[in-house]
Amino acid sequence: MSQLNSFTDRTGGAKIDTSKKMRIGIIGCGWIANNHMEAYLAQPDVEIVAGCDLVPGKAEEFFKKYGIEGAKTDYASHKEMIDDKSLALDAVSICTYNRQHAAPAIYALDAGINVLLEKPFTVTLDEAVEVMKAEKRSGKVLSIGFQPRMDANMQQIKKIVQSGVLGDIYYIQTGGGRRRGIPAPFGTSFIADETAGIGAVGDIGCYSLDLVLNALGYPKPLTVSGYTSSFFGKDPEYSGYAEDKRKAYAEKFGVDDFAAAFIRLEGGIVLDFRIAWAMNLDTPGDTIIMGTKGSLRIPSTECWNGSVDKPMVIYHQVSGLDTQTEVPIIETTGGDLLVYLFDRKIRTFLDACKNGTPAPVPSSEIIYNQAIIDGIVKSAKLGREVEIEVPEF
Ligand SMILES: NC(=O)c1ccc[n+]([C@@H]2O[C@H](COP(=O)([O-])OP(=O)(O)OC[C@H]3O[C@@H](n4cnc5c(N)ncnc54)[C@H](O)[C@@H]3O)[C@@H](O)[C@H]2O)c1
Repeated sequence: MSQLNSFTDRTGGAKIDTSKKMRIGIIGCGWIANNHMEAYLAQPDVEIVAGCDLVPGKAEEFFKKYGIEGAKTDYASHKEMIDDKSLALDAVSICTYNRQHAAPAIYALDAGINVLLEKPFTVTLDEAVEVMKAEKRSGKVLSIGFQPRMDANMQQIKKIVQSGVLGDIYYIQTGGGRRRGIPAPFGTSFIADETAGIGAVGDIGCYSLDLVLNALGYPKPLTVSGYTSSFFGKDPEYSGYAEDKRKAYAEKFGVDDFAAAFIRLEGGIVLDFRIAWAMNLDTPGDTIIMGTKGSLRIPSTECWNGSVDKPMVIYHQVSGLDTQTEVPIIETTGGDLLVYLFDRKIRTFLDACKNGTPAPVPSSEIIYNQAIIDGIVKSAKLGREVEIEVPEF
């Protein structure tokens, strides 16, 4: 670290050693790749050397937009880019739609490249298991893209639960949703089965699950009774679609737009979950973590992507009196919250790659998140409760 210079990232974190530049590639150059690109560009120890997309010319266009010179983009798929050894890639961001999470992640890890994989982890539990096997084989860093974890309020929730102030946790209610918010502003990659594979349950449900499971230290899920529906997405009159796209999008819609589930976790904890991309309601409810000494109410947001916009409240007793303690919101200093969260997501990933330290959002935790999503989908199809079996690694 003698080469350590005075650079920090724009979140004002620790000083960064710039003596080695990390060589980065971006797989999938769509919507979320912009946030990755901007966060990498803000790091002083990064060189973005390549990008690829299945759509011809899309990666080239994307790199041109950011004025990145000398990067290679003429690859027909992630395989061609990863096989190009002249790139000497240290890490890739995988920003592909859900159905294309597992294959590029496995291919990159098997090539000895660190991976930052967008959420949800995968579509199915089986795929997530295969990605974890590749992670073990490679010894490389695999981190999953849950940037809300970088938010100080989310970290406060975990601190509160872990402090013991709530006692033993026995019941949790979580979820969220939007009144008219099926994500189809730029096309059908979130709503077509062949690209998305799962709908609201994976897209925003994974955040709600991470919010509470991370706070509890990721207890193992045991059983799930799940329900999914798609009344809004399949409706050719759904007002959330652009007017000229309603019929086509309704026909293309092949995933869930609402899910609910009752999940048993180890330790005798039950989790009551619901999530909506669209509903005739303002909110399906706050997140509640109930414990033997106190309960925490976390006001609902649309999808927990890193925002707590009203104070949280702890309900407990003080000297025998029912008492409510407000937990103040921690404001993120210095601008846009999402920019801050993405900077932290990229920075913590890079630090883990450089220092050989554990992934900031490890697969060993998110596998349980995926197992619940997988269980909800299976249970909904079968119309009964299912057991969740996650292999040990
Ligand atoms: N963390 C967040 O806040 C956040 C926000 C939005 C989306 N996401 C996640 O990011 C992922 C992508 O979402 P998006 O909105 O950018 O989708 P998108 O459809 O805009 O972009 C995905 C791109 O990946 C390309 N692609 C697919 N498979 C590929 C492959 N094998 N090789 C190369 N390119 C490939 C597609 O052609 C497309 O251009 C989704 O899984 C989504 O859940 C995360």
